[in-house]
This record gives sequence, C-alpha cells and structure tokens, in this order.
Amino acid sequence: MAPFSIRRLNSCDAEAYREVRLDGLLKHPEAFGASYDDEAGRPLAVTAERLDGGFVLGAFDRGEKLMGVAGLAIPTAVKARHKGTLWGMYVLPEARGSGLSRLLVDGIIAEARGRVERLLLTVVLSNAAALNLYRNAGFVEYGLEQRALRVDDAYFDEMLMALPL
Ligand SMILES: CC(C)(COP(=O)(O)OP(=O)(O)OC[C@H]1O[C@@H](n2cnc3c(N)ncnc32)[C@H](O)[C@@H]1OP(=O)(O)O)[C@@H](O)C(=O)NCCC(=O)NCCS
Repeated sequence: MAPFSIRRLNSCDAEAYREVRLDGLLKHPEAFGASYDDEAGRPLAVTAERLDGGFVLGAFDRGEKLMGVAGLAIPTAVKARHKGTLWGMYVLPEARGSGLSRLLVDGIIAEARGRVERLLLTVVLSNAAALNLYRNAGFVEYGLEQRALRVDDAYFDEMLMALPL
C-alpha cells in the first residue's frame, strides 16, 4: 500500500487544511506571499469556500492525517486564463524527504494540463529543496524578482519559474 494518498480537498477538509497551512505560514514566513497574521484571523468559512471554489490537493498518510498541500490558481480574466499558478506548496516537516512533495507537484501539473498552456510559480532563491523539486518536475527559470517579499526588515528575492504544458 502506498504511504500517501492524494485527493482534491473540499470544504469538509477546511479545519485540517487550515492547520497545515498556518503551520507553514508560521514556520516559513519567507516561503509564502501570504502572511500568518492575515490568514490566522480569517473565519473557517472563508477557507471552506476557498477549497470548494478553487483547486487544492492534499496528501494524506495511512492514518488519514493531512501531511501536505498544494494549490492551482487559474485566473478568470480572458487575457490571463491560459496561465495557471502553482501556489501554497507545503509539506509538514515529518513528511519531508519522502517523495510526497513530488506527488503533489505532479498532481497539480496533471490538473493544469488541458486547462492552461503554462504553469507558473515563484520560489525564494534560497529555498534549495523547493528549487530542486520544481526543476526536477520540469520547471525552468525565466526571471528573478529582486526584493519580492519583505518579512519584517528582511527582503527575499524570488525566482520565477514556468512549465510549458
Ligand atoms: C519545499 C518542500 C515542499 C519540499 O518538500 P521536501 O519533502 O522537503 O522535498 P524533497 O525532500 O522531496 O526534496 C526535493 C529535492 O530537493 C533536494 N533537497 C532537499 N533538501 C535540500 C537542501 N536543503 N538543499 C539542497 N537540495 C535539497 C532533494 O534531494 C530533492 O532532489 P532530488 O529529487 O534530486 O534528490 C518542503 O521542504 C516544504 O514544505 N518547505 C517549506 C515550505 C516551502 O518552502 N514551500 C515552497 C514554497 S515555493
């Protein structure tokens, strides 16, 4: 039996998703555009709506505990809806190095294929694990945004990556 199963999350998963998401935002503020303070104050109903209305994959261990998440955003604007964005990639520390992150990335790519022409993402330059993960999945760098994120008084440059589908 595979150690992890992957499926699309829905509003019934809102509580588990919120817990994992907030863990990531708290422990790795430089890895995400969103901030812990913004999301911690949001009602659970907003998270539930986000799951039902969007596309977020969750990876569960054999005990059905949510161990990792990744999202796909596709704009509705006519001129931008050919491009999707992989966002909110997070794997709990105890599940890292297990191949779960690649399962999530591959799941997002599979969903994006046929829906968009390009899949985009941004990743902080110093995040070696994430950069390697995305490179191995076929993403290529096409730019660098300097000082893309500011966390307190520290600035972080972000690599812009794309995968043609
Ligand atoms: C980014 C993240 C999802 C990657 O998941 P992971 O389980 O840690 O990644 P893996 O162990 O599968 O490693 C991915 C690749 O990077 C390599 N790697 C892992 N840690 C590394 C490190 N510190 N330095 C260099 N390479 C590293 C692995 O060897 C692997 O490459 P390989 O397949 O060629 O061997 C996870 O670390 C995480 O959730 N981090 C915090 C949040 C975050 O950074 N999210 C991404 C936002 S863009």
